[in-house]
Amino acid sequence: MITCQKNSFNLDPGVHYLNNAYRGPQLRSSEEAGIASIIRQRNPFQFKPMDFFEGLDSIRISFGKLVNCQASAVAVMPSTSYGFTSVLNNLKAKPNSKAIVVKDEFPSGYFAIARWAKENQATIETISPDPNEITLGESWNKNLLEAIDSNTAVVLLSSVHWMNGVKFDLKAIGAKCKEMGASFIVDGTQSVGAMPIDVQECQIDALICATYKWLLGPYSLTIAFIGEKFYSGTPLEESWMNRNNARDFGKLSEYEDKYINGAARFTVGEASNFILLPMLQASLDQILEWTPAAIQDYAKRLNSPLLQFIKKIGGNSEEEPYLAQHLFAPQLPAAINPEVLKQELEKNSVYVSTRGKYLRVSVNIYNEKEDIDALMHVIGQQLSSV
Ligand SMILES: Cc1ncc(COP(=O)(O)O)c(C=O)c1O
Repeated sequence: MITCQKNSFNLDPGVHYLNNAYRGPQLRSSEEAGIASIIRQRNPFQFKPMDFFEGLDSIRISFGKLVNCQASAVAVMPSTSYGFTSVLNNLKAKPNSKAIVVKDEFPSGYFAIARWAKENQATIETISPDPNEITLGESWNKNLLEAIDSNTAVVLLSSVHWMNGVKFDLKAIGAKCKEMGASFIVDGTQSVGAMPIDVQECQIDALICATYKWLLGPYSLTIAFIGEKFYSGTPLEESWMNRNNARDFGKLSEYEDKYINGAARFTVGEASNFILLPMLQASLDQILEWTPAAIQDYAKRLNSPLLQFIKKIGGNSEEEPYLAQHLFAPQLPAAINPEVLKQELEKNSVYVSTRGKYLRVSVNIYNEKEDIDALMHVIGQQLSSV
């Protein structure tokens, strides 16, 4: 059973950081890799042509292990918005098609779908949970599954809702998409790294993940699984690095028509970022060693007293199987104003987020009992002051 790994990070002492969903803290190993890479830039003559590719190759192998795909199915990009547009540009719609999204989807996914719908004369169906339910997950998943029909061209959603942490049943949704001939695009930003995912089992066509949250990577790197249906697609741009002859620097102007097989054509130009990639590699190595399953289990053990406390004070939280243990938004008693509570928490060095009406709590392997105790303490104080 994995124990707290706070020593692997450089978080300031005395801080209760319950906000990994905002941004993951930097691993010591990732920081060291970044510093070493900056120093390495002093002497460009030390960089060999293969250095432009080997870092990327290795990242693609590691991410493939994390989500169960071949390295050739992995592309590297600057942002999730880049990833969504890259794949959606290559999905053509039949007449009367619709796209399905969930209510309050993250804007990078939503705007990409909105553009796709406009360009393809398709409609967007936004799925919500039933109103007035105490928990959201069951009806939200049910409504989503019912909405996927033979007119559905594409379903795009976050595996774990970024605002409230509701978990979507990717296996059931993927199966329904396949049955109906719809493409299934998943934003893994708020789950991949902290929760196991298998793109084959869930029949996902594209899984796009910003790395600066649960992958503990640097900002400005997104990594994606892109499935076979896109392998004859047109990328957003034409990087020389994605052509078959790219590794032979002497022949680059023998312009090669063929892209490297698989997802590589969607990799952004200059993706071999010599500083950020080694940082991400260190993070992926660490996550693969800890394993997402162990991180999820750790979060569950840590949260259990908090979830009991929330119930005891008259609040509520999502229930299994729709509860993501690393990211959730407890419903607090109505007397508590989430914004006021957040300010009070910050005065006590407890960091969470408010997203809409939700107070979003997100925990990872560096959190400890003291962090949860500090959160409960301030909530208790707020309750007694109203
Ligand atoms: C679900 C989700 N997707 C994507 C992102 C980041 O999007 P982008 O990489 O387009 O900036 C976030 C950031 O909060 C997020 O929560």
